[in-house]
Amino acid sequence: MKTAILSDIHGNATALEAVLKDVDSCAVNMVLSLGDNIGYGPEPEKVIDILRSRKIPSVTGNHELGVTRPDFLPLFNPIARKSIEMTIDMLSENCIHHIENFPNAIVKDDLRFVHGFPPESPTKYLFELSDNEIENSLSVMVERYCFIGHTHDLEILILENDRLTRHPLEKGIFPLNPKNKYLINSGSVGQPRDGNSQAKYVIWDSITHELTVKYITYNIFDTVKKIYNAGLPDQHALRLL
Ligand SMILES: [Fe+2]
Repeated sequence: MKTAILSDIHGNATALEAVLKDVDSCAVNMVLSLGDNIGYGPEPEKVIDILRSRKIPSVTGNHELGVTRPDFLPLFNPIARKSIEMTIDMLSENCIHHIENFPNAIVKDDLRFVHGFPPESPTKYLFELSDNEIENSLSVMVERYCFIGHTHDLEILILENDRLTRHPLEKGIFPLNPKNKYLINSGSVGQPRDGNSQAKYVIWDSITHELTVKYITYNIFDTVKKIYNAGLPDQHALRLL
């Protein structure tokens, strides 16, 4: 059983289309999104339409909350808030209603999917937590594998015999030990912050116990042009280059 996990697409439909083309070539059984499908990027409605048309479920991210919950807006920095306000104007009522129904977490067998941090926080950042707090959360988590997004970084955290270790992730195939517990920070499709501007996503194979980290080349300049044309803050375009 192969599951493709996409995170932080951030309205970048060009990156999403390239990633899904790659997913289609990998004989994947299921695709999931870890949220922040919208915000920052120029085509939020198109991203949601693509996910809906392919029946790809998503958990809610903090940017979905920014769009659907006015009380969340003050929690964003001024640039992010501006892009969320512009995103609200770009979205149809039907789309906003659809986004409102995203759950905080999805659990499938031994896998947990959440935007920020388990068990189901869309807003908690991994870098806010001490290793001790992470250890405690993984200890009580029933599932062995938890996939998160939110920081736009790639990292794997392993709880082995009650001891936590952390390792940066990069492109490649990584065999995991089903006796351990794992927190997998899955990178970003549409707004990476790891110094490499390719779109990132991961595939989990529950038969071979292999995690594959994929880097996908796409037409970044197409997205950059669309960000400028939409009048979104320049920073969101510059970060892609
Ligand atoms: Fe994000």
